[in-house]
Amino acid sequence: MEREKYYITTPIYYPSGKWHIGTCYTTVVCDALARFNRLDGKDVFFLTGTDEHGQKIQRAAEAAGVTPKQYVDKLVDDLKRLWKRLDITYDKFIRTTDEYHEKAVQKIFEKLYEKGDIYKSEYEGMYCVPCESFWTKSQLVDGKCPDCGREVQTAREESYFFRLSKYQGVIEKLLSEGDFLMPASRRKEMLNNFVKPGLQDLCVSRTSFDWGVKVPFDQKHVIYVWLDALFNYITALGYASDDEELFKKYWPANVHMMAKEIVRFHSVIWPAFLTALDLPLPEKVFGHGWIMFDGGKMSKSKGNVVDPFILSDRYGVDTLRYYILHIVPFGEDGEYSNEMLVRAYNSDLANTLGNLVSRTTAMIDKYFGAVPQPVGDDENADGELKALTAGLLDKVRKELKKPNVTTAMDAVWEVLRRANKYIDETAPWTLGGSEEGKVRLSSVLFNLAEAIRACAVVLQAFLPETAEKILNKLGVAQSERTFESLSKPMSFGTKVDKGANLFNRLDIDKELKELEKIAQALSEEKEQKAGAGAEKTAENSEEKQEIGIEDFDKVQLKVGIVLDCKKVEKADKLLCSTVDLGEEKPRTIVSGIAKYYAPEDMVGRKVVVVANLKPVKLRGILSQGMLLCASSPEGKLTLLRPDADMPAGSDIS
Ligand code: MSP
Repeated sequence: MEREKYYITTPIYYPSGKWHIGTCYTTVVCDALARFNRLDGKDVFFLTGTDEHGQKIQRAAEAAGVTPKQYVDKLVDDLKRLWKRLDITYDKFIRTTDEYHEKAVQKIFEKLYEKGDIYKSEYEGMYCVPCESFWTKSQLVDGKCPDCGREVQTAREESYFFRLSKYQGVIEKLLSEGDFLMPASRRKEMLNNFVKPGLQDLCVSRTSFDWGVKVPFDQKHVIYVWLDALFNYITALGYASDDEELFKKYWPANVHMMAKEIVRFHSVIWPAFLTALDLPLPEKVFGHGWIMFDGGKMSKSKGNVVDPFILSDRYGVDTLRYYILHIVPFGEDGEYSNEMLVRAYNSDLANTLGNLVSRTTAMIDKYFGAVPQPVGDDENADGELKALTAGLLDKVRKELKKPNVTTAMDAVWEVLRRANKYIDETAPWTLGGSEEGKVRLSSVLFNLAEAIRACAVVLQAFLPETAEKILNKLGVAQSERTFESLSKPMSFGTKVDKGANLFNRLDIDKELKELEKIAQALSEEKEQKAGAGAEKTAENSEEKQEIGIEDFDKVQLKVGIVLDCKKVEKADKLLCSTVDLGEEKPRTIVSGIAKYYAPEDMVGRKVVVVANLKPVKLRGILSQGMLLCASSPEGKLTLLRPDADMPAGSDIS
């Protein structure tokens, strides 16, 4: 019999900064859903990837002094490493710079143009660069981008347009009926705020930058990143290529998962594109909430990121997965804090789960050596625990259909908590003393082992590493780790191996101080990198792109004289200099040169200053320029100075 298919996707991520636990959120959720559906016998295809074109990436690459491709390659490698670290079982990783994708997007664009759904005209609007979005004035909130709250700029250009307005009726109907977009609150918001006021044709090409897929018949235009990006969901399956096998098998998607800020693109624009191509629509678009940090959305561009590598190295990958899947209420916004993470680790993982497993396996080991046979269950507590255990899989399945990973995890923790209570009620440690007690004990321990096995079998989808450890400890055979096997009791006599604790309790205060120290060290490192703009290796500078004189002209270099200099408190590498540039007021400049210059050596020194560098706060000090240094291959720094005595403020060109 052909297995039911299940196609699930994450958004494809912008490689434009450091990856953080916010980025991990959707991917971990999708991984849990993909794993569950695989265990449930479905033929699963799980897609993720990266969205690599656009002005934002081009600018970030320019700022880093590398080509856009070099820039994204490094971040994509990091992301793939992160997914490996988090045990993500994607079936395909698509990059929008993959040649097959670019070709398919061009074909699609051409097709839509030939159909008349794309036409050429001129555009003027308010553009948000970080979001790559054009807005009408009425859509702005306080004159700023309604998605991210940042400044927008007026942009006018000859462009190609997609006839979104033609699909007004289709989209309105789609969002008015059924549950295409979930949760329902987002559907209403979309309908009332974006669709009902009237859909306007969408600008789908740009001429202001060139890092993108070229319009095949008009090469000065690049295709709008959102058109390029959305089509990943079908080009990854081979749509518009020579081999459409996967597309025929898996499309339409069962669920496109994402956070709420990009629901508009997926629930309005995406179905319109698909309808224009006469393709079936995805079954569901789900917009979950955000992981917030200090009251704001955790995001690469805000810099308030929490490093998932550090957290998973310190507490284990499943602690991070647990936080995402259970502590953040799925669908709503949820806060991240180190304290909440450490507390959840102690109470839910070390206590409720870890303790239950170690107490049970220790008792089985002590009294029987292997899982014992149940004899005559007739106590109330047995019935309750057994009923919860037996109903677990169906409950989880039901919750994941919605889909809601948090309530699915609630169901598992309900069984775990009931099992702990069962231990208190049956007091098994008092039963082992007599032969009669031992008979009862065998049932109690069997029931506990069964409850733990059911939880662990289900947890294979959520906390795979921990689930495997538990099943190994209980000695559960591979054939008894499947969903079908849960309908039968586990084999008697499986040998337990109590081994090490699953999670060792942490001292919360100590742990929080440690995390604080790590965060401090990381921010110092970051500041020093920024402060020592000069601290670049020879290797790094060789990678730089060629620039024209007009690029060099953008940099304003001046001779400065250091009037005063001191060390920056609690920052080993930083010096703060007061520098006269012949202006009305001297400037404050922070530089990462404390290893090579004492503050007193600096005073009176002539230096070369980048005078028009955007001011940046380093260690709370606003640094208003950069001192230029030469660096040796080993990274030793030496300040540049003019060959002859020149007054402060002299231009360097
Ligand atoms: N490239 C677009 C998506 C194109 S899909 C055709 C994009 N990329 S992004 O890198 O900004 O990723 C946004 C997605 O990352 C969110 O929709 C969400 O899935 C995930 N998250 C990023 N930060 C997050 C939080 N702080 N909290 C929860 N999810 C977060 O938009």
